[in-house]
Amino acid sequence: MQKLMPKRVEKTFQGSKKTKIKVIHGPNLNLLGQRQINIYGTTTLAEINKRMHAIAQSKNVSISFFQSNSEGELVDCIQQSFKADGIIINAAAYTHTSIAIRDALLSVAVPFVEVHLSNIKKREKFRKHSYLSDVALKVVMGLGAQSYYRGLCDLIAHLT
Ligand code: DQA
Repeated sequence: MQKLMPKRVEKTFQGSKKTKIKVIHGPNLNLLGQRQINIYGTTTLAEINKRMHAIAQSKNVSISFFQSNSEGELVDCIQQSFKADGIIINAAAYTHTSIAIRDALLSVAVPFVEVHLSNIKKREKFRKHSYLSDVALKVVMGLGAQSYYRGLCDLIAHLT
């Protein structure tokens, strides 16, 4: 008697593959809304993520978020993002110090937009240099929370 084999349903999403964006927030950004509000504003990280999620949804793009205060965890997250189509990153203070984050971004070779709430070029001397800017697709800074939204719209426009 012939054995009845369960039919395997292979799901391929070719042609309907959604653009995937990863948003990575560095140290102390979990404190947005209460941290130096004269510089960073009163919008919380949860509110920023919610708005970005809405923007992504309206453009039929899938988006996920990660925040860490630890450099190693940020590097791990970037390494795990090799399947993403694009990255939005505010590396916060690590922007000015981390060759490891730069190397991780170059290793996965995913196009990324660097964002900052404040204008790092107009602040203390030690903030003027970024280890990411020269390899970023684009840098958006100085617009408060809007830097993230502008960066996201520009990245989506580039990818789609
Ligand atoms: C920041 C600017 C950095 O210099 C600072 O260390 C931050 C936030 C910004 O978004 O303006 O933590 O990346």
